[in-house]
Amino acid sequence: MDSIIIEWNDNFNTNVVKIDEQHQILIELYNKFIFAYLQDKELEILYEVFSELLNYTKFHFNEEEGIMTSINYPDIESHKILHKDLLSSVNTLFEEFKLGNTKISVEVVNFLRDWLMNHIAIEDKRIGVFANSN
Ligand SMILES: [Fe+2]
Ligand SMILES: [Fe+2]
Repeated sequence: MDSIIIEWNDNFNTNVVKIDEQHQILIELYNKFIFAYLQDKELEILYEVFSELLNYTKFHFNEEEGIMTSINYPDIESHKILHKDLLSSVNTLFEEFKLGNTKISVEVVNFLRDWLMNHIAIEDKRIGVFANSN
């Protein structure tokens, strides 16, 4: 089984410096959340780290959308929809945690890990390919 920690590897490189730097921070924040989770930190601490991850995700999506606009990325609209869908799923999870309706389960963690890794390695990489071919 794959580790739930994400280790940076070259597969994640979009070769757009600003995007790659932000993705590294995003992965660090995700790992910080996982370490807190694995150490059975109090829920309050988990929420705090989770909200840090959520806020940085929002920031990053905004920045990435700005980059797509500046290079006239043709698939910007569908990419924005992916961001919006991801954020709304993560937001829903977060709201449910806060209400105490959901435990932070292995499924939740796997969901987070998979979307982060797939989105970066597949969707964001396309931005890099386009940016570097123009
Ligand atoms: Fe993206
Ligand atoms: Fe991204």
